[in-house]
Amino acid sequence: MFKAAVLTISDKGSQGLREDKSGPRVSSFLSENGYEVVYTNIIPDEKDQIEAEFIKLADQKITLIVSTGGTGFSKRDVTPEACQAVCQRMIPGFGEAMRLASAQITDKAWLSRANAGIRDESVIITLPGSPKAAVENLEAVIKPLKHGIEILLGLDSECAAPENKN
Ligand code: MTE
Repeated sequence: MFKAAVLTISDKGSQGLREDKSGPRVSSFLSENGYEVVYTNIIPDEKDQIEAEFIKLADQKITLIVSTGGTGFSKRDVTPEACQAVCQRMIPGFGEAMRLASAQITDKAWLSRANAGIRDESVIITLPGSPKAAVENLEAVIKPLKHGIEILLGLDSECAAPENKN
């Protein structure tokens, strides 16, 4: 079972001024999909702090690091920038898939700047902040994510399905 961490990025949440509903929803979704959530935290929309958490968790070999919040247009929204700053390689398809799937539900999906990348042997995925949006976005990538992680960790090198090998 791959280890996962869930970070809620919220100024109000980190000060106890708003109940965090997104973090628990994302954690449940990951558990239901076979990940072991070993760490959760709520931190403010501070780029340095977000980067430090991403780096700490990747150093601890947490395979999947998911954040919720801070992907929009507010001047305080800097989560995608923190993700980009700490990742050696980006995964543009995940942002594309999340927005494409979400746009079937609401055209406000296009306001999310959510992205994803790889730092060492960890995949980092940033999600929008509302509980519904966070799960809808994660749902869009959860299936290919597992195969990507297996390739990243060297557990699988075979991309073709048995019936498609030619
Ligand atoms: N994606 C889905 N699937 N469902 C939603 O309701 N809300 C959007 C968007 N993505 C939404 C969504 C809205 S209203 C915003 S402002 C952006 O995500 C950014 O959200 P954030 O600032 O909380 O990260």
